[in-house]
Amino acid sequence: VRPCAPYRPQLHYTPARNWMNDPNGLVWHDGEYHLFYQYNPYGNDWGNMSWGHAVSTDLVHWEELGVAIEATDDEHVFSGSAVIDHDGTMVAVYTSYHPASGLQAQSLARSTDRGRTWTRHPGNPVLDIGSKEFRDPKVFWYGQGGYWVMAVVLALEWKVSFYRSDDLLSWTWLSDFGPAGSVDGIWEVPDLFELDGRWVLVVSLNPGGPAGGSGVQYFVGRFDGVTFTSDWPAAWVDHGRDFYAALSWNNTPDGRRRWIGWMSNWADAATHPTDPWRGAQSLPRELLLEDIGGRPCLVQRPVAALQALRSPDSIHVAGLDIPPGVLFRSVPEGALEITAEFAPGTAERFGLVIHEGVRIGYDIVRGEAFVEGTPSGRHAAPLSADGVRSSTDGVRSSADGVRRSGDGLRLTVIVDASCVEVFSDRGQIVFTEQIFAEPGSAQVGLFADSGTALLRSAAIHPLRPKRA
Ligand code: FRU
Repeated sequence: VRPCAPYRPQLHYTPARNWMNDPNGLVWHDGEYHLFYQYNPYGNDWGNMSWGHAVSTDLVHWEELGVAIEATDDEHVFSGSAVIDHDGTMVAVYTSYHPASGLQAQSLARSTDRGRTWTRHPGNPVLDIGSKEFRDPKVFWYGQGGYWVMAVVLALEWKVSFYRSDDLLSWTWLSDFGPAGSVDGIWEVPDLFELDGRWVLVVSLNPGGPAGGSGVQYFVGRFDGVTFTSDWPAAWVDHGRDFYAALSWNNTPDGRRRWIGWMSNWADAATHPTDPWRGAQSLPRELLLEDIGGRPCLVQRPVAALQALRSPDSIHVAGLDIPPGVLFRSVPEGALEITAEFAPGTAERFGLVIHEGVRIGYDIVRGEAFVEGTPSGRHAAPLSADGVRSSTDGVRSSADGVRRSGDGLRLTVIVDASCVEVFSDRGQIVFTEQIFAEPGSAQVGLFADSGTALLRSAAIHPLRPKRA
């Protein structure tokens, strides 16, 4: 049970105390989904990077465990992944960062008690090229070839390097991918996986993201065991400000691809007004590839297990004309899942309002979906010189070219204290945002700008975790 603190989400994972960034070591093993993460055991700011640890059996209720792999004076434990070796040992592959030299190399630690206690491999590091910008190994079992593959970034060269190994100890270079797509920032935290018959390469980028600051791009193509070839231009994973270092689970029992991202942005992560913790993970999402507009697109949906949390006192509305302006109604406090389907009328923009002043909608004139506004209790702040608006002030994210004008809009929105996730249509456009509204503004609105729109149907489901 978490103490009730303003901004503490109920469903999004947050550590009880202290700083958290990237998800690490996502692996399913023996009935548990493991979530390790970049963690500072000693404070609410980035530093002393170690791996924190939580487990869940359903991807919705998480139990925080002790620090898994702790920083030492000469080795900080940066991001990485985890696999289950052939003998059932859990193996973490992480970046050792040596503060004295600034060097980064890839290292191993092992656990034979389901991730509770860890032993560093005595022969660390296992992959060292003498670089200061070589990190975030994602290792997975490449079944077609019968070997382990590692994707790891050369951050300043905008490259993902691929390596192979038979024993996780000795690694052979296969190929490099990049520069490609966006190179407006450094490359971090790669992921590579097969999805619906194709291969998806994911790379985090800082800065250069679509809403300013950090963001995540993906490439769809082929991987033949040596080389990744991109068949389509890069696209954004998420159009919001606060989804970074996305990483998918290895070893899921049903073979489906699910992932989670750090719900923050390096541009202002350090200023998020939460205490005594700082940092949240997104809800776990299921991934699919769907052909949209003649190209394969990543589609994300919150994991189905979330629906089991819907409380019986849902609110349902159907066939409501939205006059010009805003219609508000009170809703229960706590986490909400809102689903809504709109048909256009004469309005140029229409959609939902949350946190009193934040609009989630569709702009017919521009043909873009957006999340925009300033929550209750805050004053609009001017954009900073680089155009980056702080999460603590307000939000302005948009995705253009998503629909033909004249179409309607289908939204699934999850509002969980400061954590807001927006999935539009079948999940092809996603906005993930941290929005720090004054607590106690339990209202949801409908809006139409300079004209009318139609709400075909909507449901507001309070989401109630079992242990809250
Ligand atoms: C990404 C990142 C990684 C690094 C880790 C350090 O957010 O910068 O590249 O391993 O965070 O905490």
